Amino acid sequence: MVQDFINKQVEEIKNKVGNKKALCALSGGVDSSVAAVLVHKAIGDNLVCVFVDHGLLRKNERYEVETIFRDKFHMNLIVVDAEERFLGKLEGVTDPEQKRKVIGEEFIRVFEEEQSKLQDIEFLVQGTIYPDIVESINKDGKLAVKSHHNVGGLPEDVNFELIEPLKELYKDQVREVGRALGIDEELVSRQPFPGPGLGVRCLGELTKEKLDILRDADYIYRDEIKKAGLDKEIWQYFAVLPNIQSVGVINGERTYKHLIGLRAITTKDAMEAKWYPMPLELLEKISTRITDEVPQVNRVVYDITNKPPATIEWE
Ligand code: XMP
Repeated sequence: MVQDFINKQVEEIKNKVGNKKALCALSGGVDSSVAAVLVHKAIGDNLVCVFVDHGLLRKNERYEVETIFRDKFHMNLIVVDAEERFLGKLEGVTDPEQKRKVIGEEFIRVFEEEQSKLQDIEFLVQGTIYPDIVESINKDGKLAVKSHHNVGGLPEDVNFELIEPLKELYKDQVREVGRALGIDEELVSRQPFPGPGLGVRCLGELTKEKLDILRDADYIYRDEIKKAGLDKEIWQYFAVLPNIQSVGVINGERTYKHLIGLRAITTKDAMEAKWYPMPLELLEKISTRITDEVPQVNRVVYDITNKPPATIEWE
């Protein structure tokens, strides 16, 4: 079944694109990754993928994307190092919605610049899946843009023809296709990660220093969840840096350092969510590792709030 789907799509994409070129904004998430590998199977080097490192990625994320798409699949991958540029634009921005807006707009600008350097691109690959289409149709039956999830949303005025090979599939089916294409399980079963990335998990103004602290703590948290074999059971789990410093003590010396919040939830569709009852010994292990290994942190808290009233993300 899955193989039939892949063969049919590859055939269709080949016929549609021929010897022309296609562009794909790769986010490293499941949908855009599977779409890119599928299209690559059909048109090879005529697919150009652009991955924007906006400095709001998780630890090792860029390296993992490069390893999978460039080294394993030998894809034509352009990685744009835009950390300074994004953090520059975000200087002084503290309002969550404003952050999203700045990140979204800058993403489009970076993508447009990359696209203008390339020639003869006629197609744009998008990892749209069936629920995206359903969720985008409002009460009048018209297509509505999801402002909430718009990073990776691309300029509206480009004259590309769209290739959306996954648009009739549900998430689980996309994962199946990904596995059949040989994409690493780690990527295929990846938890959702918001387009604005750590930008909405690092509260207040975004600085490289705070983002690095968050990256290190988040990495330890994810590592321990994986080691405990809970990564498939918990729907989403991540660390947050709430921009609070508190008093602590080490070797009789007073400290004044950052607080890290840990969030883990289960849900069906992210509309409502339950906080995950994490085993206490595991929480202690994570907390100890974070305060031992991240020198700027002296306190760790666990979020025990459902959605509603809270949201999954803290911003
Ligand atoms: P909330 O925080 O609204 O999140 O309960 C629901 C789901 O959506 C993800 N999320 C986002 N995804 N851009 C995205 O692409 C965003 O701005 C954004 N905000 C939240 C969140 O991670 C959760 O899975």
